[in-house]
Amino acid sequence: MNLFYLATLLFGSSVIASGPSRLYAASYAGTVSSLSLTKSGPNYELTTLSQTTDCGTSPSWLMLDKQNEVLYCLDEGVDLPNATLTSFQIKSNGSLARITQLSTLSGPVASEFYSAPGLPGRKFFAVAHYSGSAVTTYTLDPASGHFDHVQTFTFEMAAPGPVPARQDAPHPHGVTVDPTGQFVLVPDLGADLVRIFYINSSTGLLEQQQSLVAPPGSGPRHAVFWSPKKADPSQAHNVRFYLVTELDNHLNSFEVTYPANGTIAFSKGQRENTYGEGSTPPVGSKAAGIAISPENNHVVISNRNDETFGPANDSIAIFSSADRKGQSPTDVCFVDLYPAYGSFPRQFEISSREGKVALALQNSHEVAIVEWNDKTGSPGSLLAVKSLDGEIPAVIWGA
Ligand SMILES: *[C@@H]1O[C@H](CO)[C@@H](O)[C@H](O)[C@H]1NC(C)=O
Ligand SMILES: *[C@@H]1O[C@H](CO)[C@@H](O)[C@H](O)[C@H]1NC(C)=O
Ligand SMILES: *[C@@H]1O[C@H](CO)[C@@H](O)[C@H](O)[C@H]1NC(C)=O
Ligand SMILES: *[C@@H]1O[C@H](CO)[C@@H](O)[C@H](O)[C@H]1NC(C)=O
Ligand SMILES: *[C@@H]1O[C@H](CO)[C@@H](O)[C@H](O)[C@H]1NC(C)=O
Repeated sequence: MNLFYLATLLFGSSVIASGPSRLYAASYAGTVSSLSLTKSGPNYELTTLSQTTDCGTSPSWLMLDKQNEVLYCLDEGVDLPNATLTSFQIKSNGSLARITQLSTLSGPVASEFYSAPGLPGRKFFAVAHYSGSAVTTYTLDPASGHFDHVQTFTFEMAAPGPVPARQDAPHPHGVTVDPTGQFVLVPDLGADLVRIFYINSSTGLLEQQQSLVAPPGSGPRHAVFWSPKKADPSQAHNVRFYLVTELDNHLNSFEVTYPANGTIAFSKGQRENTYGEGSTPPVGSKAAGIAISPENNHVVISNRNDETFGPANDSIAIFSSADRKGQSPTDVCFVDLYPAYGSFPRQFEISSREGKVALALQNSHEVAIVEWNDKTGSPGSLLAVKSLDGEIPAVIWGA
């Protein structure tokens, strides 16, 4: 019997993490902060270990290579002609030492790693550029954190979309890799599409395929895949794709199949309002982040600017996506709204190891740590909060 199993027997399924936990937060004030979450008695506290301004003027997104302790930071380059991408070596005291910095097209807002079986020593990442209307790709040496630019795809639209103020041009907003590791998917808020790229397994180069079309004016922002826990990824049975559309505040579910001609195919499931069916999304509200719960049976979405829980107190929407045995029903089902404990919960990350969710409360200028209740599959009480300078678009857990 290993210790993890023993701890699970003794304390139930919530994991007892020992010692301080590390987090990294991006701020539009131009800083990336290393934070430490400590517990004394029943109380948690978030403290700043170190801060760097080396990511650029508007850090928007963070991506951690846990194994190699390298942090990748996207700087959106707000109001600048170009943006930057930076890798950092994480020191044991939390300080961040810059490794590589590249100039890129404006507006990078999300990224994800992928790999190519034919190049086992390397990794890759794709970046969605909102204002730059583009997707760029990079190859990296995981051990050193050095990376180089590989590809640029730029997109155009003949005419603005149904929501012209936001759909004046293509606006790639998210990056997701499918469970088989063969496809990169990029929700495009401006074009009402999910752009699909095949990963060439020998070169790691992306090859664009036919896009998935989203409802007009819906504004695709972020997406996640769901697959049965412990499934063999090469089998890829019973896979789902969940897309959050920002402009109409909906969760869109799809069944995923892999035709023999080397494509990925989607059949439309249900669309559900992120405030529950029959509700009207509050004026000015904008759905943002999406994740699968650690128990693999819920879809979690952050709602911004809805003030469901009072002034500057937005919500987290929970949908059930599978039962406790991991059986996925045909469709997701809205469960309830839970407090986000602040304004504009943008990106968030649930840590199964911690049993907590870290929320980037953009307009509160805060990072919040909220209990994750694994029995109900929903956020619980507020454990700690940290005020930082500037708007906070992203926070992630450390290794
Ligand atoms: C953290 O450690 C690095 C070396 O690993 C050192 O250069 C830096 O000064 C340290 N920072 C603090 C705040 O102690
Ligand atoms: C900087 O931005 C300009 C204008 O969009 C673009 O043409 C150029 O390629 C960008 N530089 C890089 C390194 O991407
Ligand atoms: C991957 O790229 C190589 C080199 O360009 C090419 O020969 C091969 O056909 C590509 N594989 C697929 C599956 O597209
Ligand atoms: C691949 O096969 C699927 C299912 O038969 C079909 O719908 C799709 O059009 C095909 N795509 C290409 C590019 O051949
Ligand atoms: C937000 O709402 C929750 C639930 O009513 C409450 O506990 C919390 O104090 C409220 N405000 C903030 C800023 O967290």
